[in-house]
Amino acid sequence: MSEQADKPILTTRQGHPVHNNQQQRTVGSRGPATLENYHFLEKISHFDRERIPERVVHARGFVAHGEFEAYGTIGDEPASKYTRAKLFRTRGRKTPVTIRFSTVIGGRDSSEAARDPRGFAVKFRTDDGNWDMVGNNLQVFFIRDAIKFPDVIHSLKPDPVTFRQEPNRIFDFMSNTPESMHMLTWLFSPYGIPKNYRTMRGSGVNTYRLVNADGEGVLVKFHWLSQQGEHNLTEAQAAEIQARDLGHASKDLYEAIERGEFPRWELNVQIMSDDEHPELDFDPLDDTKIWPEEDFPYLPVGMMTLNRNITDHHNENEQIAFGTGVLVDGIDFSDDKMLVGRTFSYSDTQRYRVGPNYLQLPVNAPRPDVVVSTNQTGGAMSYAVDNRGANLHINFEPSSVAGLREADESYREYRPFVSGQIMKAPIERQNNYSQAGRRYREMADWERDDLILNLVTNLARCDKHIQEKMVWHFSQCDEDYGRRVAEGLGISVNA
Ligand code: HEM
Repeated sequence: MSEQADKPILTTRQGHPVHNNQQQRTVGSRGPATLENYHFLEKISHFDRERIPERVVHARGFVAHGEFEAYGTIGDEPASKYTRAKLFRTRGRKTPVTIRFSTVIGGRDSSEAARDPRGFAVKFRTDDGNWDMVGNNLQVFFIRDAIKFPDVIHSLKPDPVTFRQEPNRIFDFMSNTPESMHMLTWLFSPYGIPKNYRTMRGSGVNTYRLVNADGEGVLVKFHWLSQQGEHNLTEAQAAEIQARDLGHASKDLYEAIERGEFPRWELNVQIMSDDEHPELDFDPLDDTKIWPEEDFPYLPVGMMTLNRNITDHHNENEQIAFGTGVLVDGIDFSDDKMLVGRTFSYSDTQRYRVGPNYLQLPVNAPRPDVVVSTNQTGGAMSYAVDNRGANLHINFEPSSVAGLREADESYREYRPFVSGQIMKAPIERQNNYSQAGRRYREMADWERDDLILNLVTNLARCDKHIQEKMVWHFSQCDEDYGRRVAEGLGISVNA
């Protein structure tokens, strides 16, 4: 009895005390049940709505909180040389962060040991509002034009009839998508199954711009380097984990943070002047390419530490919403046409998946000390009214009476000059194979053996014409690459 007395009293969401949580209200003890039982109806109908639609991609993930500490420098130079973003400017400045790691293709309860890219999404809660960096662990992507995203994802998702992931569907699409060879070479190597989230790197993948106080911009790529080292699994090691546990990576991260072993990642950038770089054999805006480190060195910017676990999976994981359009002053878009497509897609899906007021949820809103002042109003599940100033009647701008005003006019917008014919056309410098070939040659022997084994195992389940097409692509990347896959499949390179 005394144990019970310490507990808060159970209520309905209306605040009514619940006197009986074991039995419904019925006519006699055997029923029939009555329908006026508010407590029962509230409880069961809320349960019926416990799920929101899972993410169309990256459904399985895990979230943790922490902080980012700036070095105040970018490489050896003051950060302000490249960017006016406040979070980078001073040494020791700390910015709260929330990170969501994820797999891409599986559903919400799928295996975390799957061969799949891993999502690496970081929400920086800066003085100037939120900045989301939504990246992956493989540095590159399958496609370079956003219009192909639904196709690449459909090919990787389960068959619409049998609901099984089918290599034949995947390689049918990929064999018609030569720009995917670089990503496939990473994905089917051990990098395609990171050991866990702590020992995995991250990259922004798409190209952004940094803009300084004089309004000058440079092109930039972001990278997160794990301070726990980088470790991956072979297919056999992954199968062993998967047989026992579908969520080993979430468990590993959660338990490490509970033990006080706080994982860290150093943020590095690569920088290029803001032009087309005709001297390069690839386009700097092409997300199927890396920027070679020997030409564009990694410059350290700061350190992220994850030090706090979530307290509710639904509120902080299912409802968190990242997007590539969520930038702060000093960090800007580039002309990368994938990035523009992504920027539409994220907020669009979140308005559907979470609801039109998803930005009012604490996990998505800016830090409490950043006042949100808008004239946006209403919509499903509107939770609060944004700051409108002293006069609540004025929810429009401009007004001579009261309301909100525009921010400081001294803000120097970055204004790149763009001209050209409007068209639907592929980029000129496609160079689909050379970086994939280089990656193949730079692998350790065991990694290359694993790559060939994984490709052969999957391609063996494909139609012959698809096998032959893939072998042709691999041969373009590197002769030995094509030959070894062909040998594994028992077909001729020149078929
Ligand atoms: C045009 C190409 C792309 C489109 C249209 C697209 C679209 C989407 C959509 C609709 C979601 C679900 C978001 C949500 O429900 O909250 C998502 C999640 C995600 N995407 Fe993309 N994506 C694209 C490319 C990429 C690329 C290149 C990367 C990696 C650099 C990436 C990384 C992620 C990550 C990490 C998430 C999960 C975010 C989270 O943890 O909530 N996506 N993407």
